[in-house]
Amino acid sequence: MTGFRGAGERIPVAAPDLSGNEERYVVDAIRSSWISSTGPFLDRFERDFSALCATRTAIGVANGTIALHLALLTLGAGPGDQVIVPSLTYIATANAVKYVGAEPVFVDVDPATWCLDPSRVEEAITKRTRGMIAVHLYGHPADMDALGAIASRHDMWIVEDGAEAHGAVYRGRRIGGLGTIGTFSFYGNKIITSGEGGAITLNDPMLERRARQLRGQGVDPGRRYWFPVIGYNFRLTNIAAAILCAQLERFDDIVARRRTVFETYRAALAGIPGIGIQPVAPWAEPAPWLFCVTVDAHRYGRTRDELIARLDESGIETRPFFIPIHLLPPYLHESQARHEHLPVTEELAARGMNLPTHSNLTEADVERISDAVRRGAR
Ligand SMILES: Cc1ncc(COP(=O)(O)O)c(C=O)c1O
Repeated sequence: MTGFRGAGERIPVAAPDLSGNEERYVVDAIRSSWISSTGPFLDRFERDFSALCATRTAIGVANGTIALHLALLTLGAGPGDQVIVPSLTYIATANAVKYVGAEPVFVDVDPATWCLDPSRVEEAITKRTRGMIAVHLYGHPADMDALGAIASRHDMWIVEDGAEAHGAVYRGRRIGGLGTIGTFSFYGNKIITSGEGGAITLNDPMLERRARQLRGQGVDPGRRYWFPVIGYNFRLTNIAAAILCAQLERFDDIVARRRTVFETYRAALAGIPGIGIQPVAPWAEPAPWLFCVTVDAHRYGRTRDELIARLDESGIETRPFFIPIHLLPPYLHESQARHEHLPVTEELAARGMNLPTHSNLTEADVERISDAVRRGAR
């Protein structure tokens, strides 16, 4: 992820759009001396982000990994508990389960959504299962009604990991308030960013009180320097919140620009043999995060990794999909011991890649990238 100045330059896979009031608000925060974790931008960010997600509240935290960690602590997940997670996601989703001493159990994804497959979740539930993390992968919402029905039957909570899906809509409802707690990342490659930053969203006032207390060292809200529980410093700064307030002012504009990039890709890549485009379920309005394609090496004539190398030579940066977490060293043995079988995850991880997606891309850039993909076919 780097700055991008336009035609002729190397095209990065992601780039932030900081062209609004970001600089002005950061200067305001510095001049006001509110640079730590209280200040007017923090309050405004929490109000504006909860409005976007249609939740009772949003709580700013230092990054998206901490948002997941705080969600699990707030829900009381701990040693002996199992938490169902997809394996096709960023490592933070599973690591957060480990941070609280619980065990992530991997379930395959649905080929129609690339998110947790509701038809495979129930068979992974044991007496120790407390909840699941539904990741809205690559901007596409998970099937929350189907997952919610399973959660109700088994008295489980659901954390929605919306790091890659700001503003995605599931059956007419924004993600973030569809499970028990929603989590978000504002890392520099996300739809809106503060460089590093995160948030949790929720509707339950009791969980809100617990989350705010855990975020702020466990202090009693009514009694200074009285710490009834062990808490954490998970706070977001007013400087980061200043950037996020400016990003939220332009949320609709940033999303609209990214949607135009998506539409141009869809049209320009249609009909290239062996190039598949991320499916969209009929009930989903995905967030336009990073445009995803899959490469069928047999039909395209080159593997995904060969295409990545060719695009790189043409000055186009791309990303392969995540390596499934159950195949990574900290998780491999325990996944094997549970006899996990995740064919859809492994297939997608081997074939999938992200093309450059950001609001600075012109139609000509997207045509140039699509053309390079087309010329790569054999
Ligand atoms: C699905 C998912 N969850 C969690 C995270 C972690 O967020 P952060 O990098 O802000 O800690 C990311 C990405 O960064 C992500 O893509």
